[in-house]
Amino acid sequence: MASRIVTFDLGGREVEVMVRPMTTLQSVLRNQLGFTATKDGCRQGGCGSCTVLVNGQPMLSCLLPVEDVAGQRVTTLESITPAEGLHPIQQAFLDAHASQCGYCTPGMVMVSKALLDHDPAPTDDAIRHALTGNICRCTGYRPIVTAVHSAAEAVHDAADAMRGSAGERAR
Ligand code: FES
Ligand code: FES
Repeated sequence: MASRIVTFDLGGREVEVMVRPMTTLQSVLRNQLGFTATKDGCRQGGCGSCTVLVNGQPMLSCLLPVEDVAGQRVTTLESITPAEGLHPIQQAFLDAHASQCGYCTPGMVMVSKALLDHDPAPTDDAIRHALTGNICRCTGYRPIVTAVHSAAEAVHDAADAMRGSAGERAR
């Protein structure tokens, strides 16, 4: 079958790739674009390590033909990691010792980002529900849930600080 060109937004930058039909977004990210933060666990939709955001929604990139994201907005861990330092969710995972081998962590962080973007103060149940499809074989889930709560507080504090400085400037 003929290859075709697919164009999509990756972290605010338009990318264009030549792919064979049914090539997954996971394969394109890792093998063609070198975005290896998106992990390659089971390739069967069973572990969540390949989770990215498509238009802000968590999606399993191992099950997603890249043609389905043509013209869409894809966000990976690379997209949210600042040039210096860590995203508050990454920092919270680090502080809470919520990863060991770290293989599951990018997927966990992306799901947490999507959750906090629409629910800034999630309950334990909401966090556990959001992370249902993400498997961790090393850490145990309590530190991960703790990390997401801490991240929610950090994001809230950062928003407060920004509002405060905007108020100062307006005076
Ligand atoms: S690699 Fe996609 S769910 Fe496991
Ligand atoms: S930290 Fe190893 S799988 Fe989660």
